[in-house]
Amino acid sequence: MTFKIVANWKMYPKTPKEALRLVDQIEKALIPIVGYQLVLCPPSLYIPQIYERVRLTSLKLGVQNIHTRIVGKFTGEISASMAKPYCSYAILGHSERREEFKEDNKLVNEKVQTALEYGLSPIVCVGESIEDYRSGKSDLVVEHVKECLKNVNRERIDRVVIAYEPIWAIGTKNPADADYANQIISLIRQGIAALYNRELAYKVPLLYGGSVDSGNIKYYLNQPEINGVLVATASHKASEFIKICQQLKNNKK
Ligand code: PGA
Repeated sequence: MTFKIVANWKMYPKTPKEALRLVDQIEKALIPIVGYQLVLCPPSLYIPQIYERVRLTSLKLGVQNIHTRIVGKFTGEISASMAKPYCSYAILGHSERREEFKEDNKLVNEKVQTALEYGLSPIVCVGESIEDYRSGKSDLVVEHVKECLKNVNRERIDRVVIAYEPIWAIGTKNPADADYANQIISLIRQGIAALYNRELAYKVPLLYGGSVDSGNIKYYLNQPEINGVLVATASHKASEFIKICQQLKNNKK
């Protein structure tokens, strides 16, 4: 499976001009590096312009959230059909949305269905709190994955991506140990296999996210169950992000 690097820019950079500059820097440096899939997830307002810059390259775009509905009286929201002309992916259920906007697995599941219906690949984020981690309950993320995938039919499951992002590792410079991340991701794979089958479970890219940077990417790259990374802090600084991608070239799986 092609290793994926998904860049979640969150609410950065602060102007469209800076965003386009970042894209240009990334594009110039990365086009020669083959053998992985790079997905940029900028703030929604920047997406159409960025799309014009990258549409003839191998870079793909993702939106950071969608609403469950396609049109309606939902001030401030963005729908899957609005994102689809530009984006291939939609990040769903990020821990910041779960925390700030009280999104739960049921809502994430509805968004997953909407994304799939409108041709976007959902990148479903799950991750345990520090308390659950400390009390050895990290495997509850498997149940979260199952809830997020409820009623997703087997013809569509290979379009879903799962990102395991322990909450305690996000933006903390305290990444999960790569062996540990591989172990939890392997449990997630088994959970998906139980819902569908083993063959289909191996068609679902499983990513790790949480304080990934150019110094530690190589450890995740070499784990058998990890099919990619979701990077935020290190993804909207051109030099750091380019270094991460160059590591892929040097440490090819
Ligand atoms: P980080 O965040 O790379 O800054 O730890 C990851 C994320 O929020 O997806």
